[in-house]
Amino acid sequence: MTVHREEKIWAFFVLGLTVVFLAALAYAAWGLGLTTPYTVERIPAQKAAQELKPGVDCVNPNVKQIVNNVVVCQDGRYYVNVLAMRFTWLPNRIVLTDPKEVKFRITSTDVIHGFEIAGTNVNVMVFPGYIAEITWKVPSNMAPGNYLIICNEYCGAGHQNMYAILEIRK
Ligand code: CUA
Repeated sequence: MTVHREEKIWAFFVLGLTVVFLAALAYAAWGLGLTTPYTVERIPAQKAAQELKPGVDCVNPNVKQIVNNVVVCQDGRYYVNVLAMRFTWLPNRIVLTDPKEVKFRITSTDVIHGFEIAGTNVNVMVFPGYIAEITWKVPSNMAPGNYLIICNEYCGAGHQNMYAILEIRK
């Protein structure tokens, strides 16, 4: 049985493509730190407002301060609890000073929302009854300023008005 030259070329081409795709996938996962948002805990939707506590990973004495659902750690990490509800995010203004890594813990009090920081890789679906957690490694070249947090899951008549501001300070 003979393998024609064209067949060999195509076989290598396909093999090469596969390697490139897998490398791109690995780069996205480990190089860029794109993580899969995952659901870490269940929480009763009706009680979400009372029970969504600051993240547990940064506890005393590493906590510098807790302001408006934002936990500031000594080493530049932040834990931010966010509540989604028709048609707002709480808090609707998040101020972070020179953040290195931000862990968002998000839940919804009513329907499914989508938490997205425009222009970043932060994008997670938020289900009522579950806490979604996503860790954002803030790019070192992230310019100070205001960034838009939007809702990217249609959640009702006021969906287009559901946004918040993320302010990055240096
Ligand atoms: Cu919340 Cu769309």
